[in-house]
Amino acid sequence: MSLWSDVLSLLILFPALVDLLNNGLALKPPMGWLSWGYHECQVDCKNTTVRCLDESLIMSVADHLFNDGYIEAGYEYVIIDDCWSEPQRNEFGQLVPDRERFSRGMKFLADYIHSKGLKFGMYTSLGTYTCKGYPGIRDHFEIDAATFASWDVDFLKVDGCFIKADYLNTGYIDLSRTLNKTGRPILYTCSWPYYIQFIENKMVNFEPIVEHCNLFRTYHDIFHTAGNIYHTVKFFESSYDLMKKYHGPGQWFDPDMLLVGRGLNPTKGIDSFGWLRLQMVVYAMLPAPLLISCNLDAISQKEKELLLNKDLVAINQDMMAVPAQPFAIDPFLTIWVKPHEPKKGNMNPACSFAVVNFHFRDVTIPFFLHKYAVCEPFTRRYSVMDVLNRTFLKNITSLEPIHVTVPSSDAVVYTLFPL
Ligand SMILES: *[C@@H]1O[C@H](CO)[C@@H](O)[C@H](O)[C@H]1NC(C)=O
Ligand SMILES: *[C@@H]1O[C@H](CO)[C@@H](O)[C@H](O)[C@H]1NC(C)=O
Ligand SMILES: *[C@@H]1O[C@H](CO)[C@@H](O)[C@H](O)[C@H]1NC(C)=O
Ligand SMILES: *[C@@H]1O[C@H](CO)[C@@H](O)[C@H](O)[C@H]1NC(C)=O
Repeated sequence: MSLWSDVLSLLILFPALVDLLNNGLALKPPMGWLSWGYHECQVDCKNTTVRCLDESLIMSVADHLFNDGYIEAGYEYVIIDDCWSEPQRNEFGQLVPDRERFSRGMKFLADYIHSKGLKFGMYTSLGTYTCKGYPGIRDHFEIDAATFASWDVDFLKVDGCFIKADYLNTGYIDLSRTLNKTGRPILYTCSWPYYIQFIENKMVNFEPIVEHCNLFRTYHDIFHTAGNIYHTVKFFESSYDLMKKYHGPGQWFDPDMLLVGRGLNPTKGIDSFGWLRLQMVVYAMLPAPLLISCNLDAISQKEKELLLNKDLVAINQDMMAVPAQPFAIDPFLTIWVKPHEPKKGNMNPACSFAVVNFHFRDVTIPFFLHKYAVCEPFTRRYSVMDVLNRTFLKNITSLEPIHVTVPSSDAVVYTLFPL
């Protein structure tokens, strides 16, 4: 294979992207931990069921990421979602962290998080109030951006409750510019397209969104049920044409948090782990931000191994950043295929495929690499890895089938490394 054909194939794989937010961040899908999915708005620190959102929780999350192998796997952001502030601004109009739960303030927490080599994320909302009724950023862009920058915030999730389309369409742009003016690179995540499409029932124009946001939520909040995982995966399956155009370094569609570790509501007859694995596999392939939201004190070994599976994470963090193309076999069975960086030392792309099975029965199908133009065979021979158990199965040519069996409501994923 010549250098020239490599260049050609790169041109084909990288369609011209429109202008992107030039803050140098999110060149790969961000990875980390976000408080919402598990702790939600738990402000009652006497509650013994769910630990409250406070300083000691956030410090313990930083400790877990640092001590338990997460940081080595790539998880780096520790993000506080809604419900962190006092209900009122101070006499200077500034936001104030809850005086009891965050008694030493956010700069203290940022320093602690940074001392572990991790990054610090926070939350606000574009309206006058956040979704849970705390002070939002409307009419306070400059003062709040300055506050977040002074706290050394690295990531800002900006929600969009209680506001109309016109303001969503201008406010997210204005805030992006205001954040830029602070001089601090802050990864900017917008809920803009979600509110336009699902709350305002209007068409989304992605051009300004990818120009001003690093991440953008396009679908409902993820909720801990199997049905919710199904609808989210199907929504992103139907978004492939948009993703091909707008999803890449610095600008990622965000399907919301991973549920691995959080678990699903118990439902009779449902193997929760299969569903969680299915979600993780699809997020690795999209590729989507990998934001855990769970109790890291209590996560099972099996779930932790899934989150820390370096071959799975490598598919997600790949520098080629090509979204996986879905091929539906039927409404409940889809093969996702994507090329990605090879292992060190090989010039030609590797190819991963996942089979996602929503049937209530196991499915066995053959996979033939040569049938998928998105992974056009760059070489003739491949070594096949079963990514979930991280074992090499066999060496094959692109014409030979790989027979895979997928359990009910579960997914498998394989990588073919060129030989
Ligand atoms: C602000 O935007 C300019 C122009 O796109 C860019 O060069 C610069 O890196 C940005 N700065 C920050 C802090 O995001
Ligand atoms: C504790 O919090 C959980 C979840 O927020 C809630 O369901 C439960 O009722 C609370 N318990 C008490 C005693 O307040
Ligand atoms: C990995 O999974 C495959 C099935 O996909 C199985 O054939 C193989 O024995 C497993 N290997 C290990 C080490 O568990
Ligand atoms: C696959 O090929 C590689 C490189 O030639 C070799 O090291 C390995 O042993 C082969 N594996 C199998 C299962 O044949």
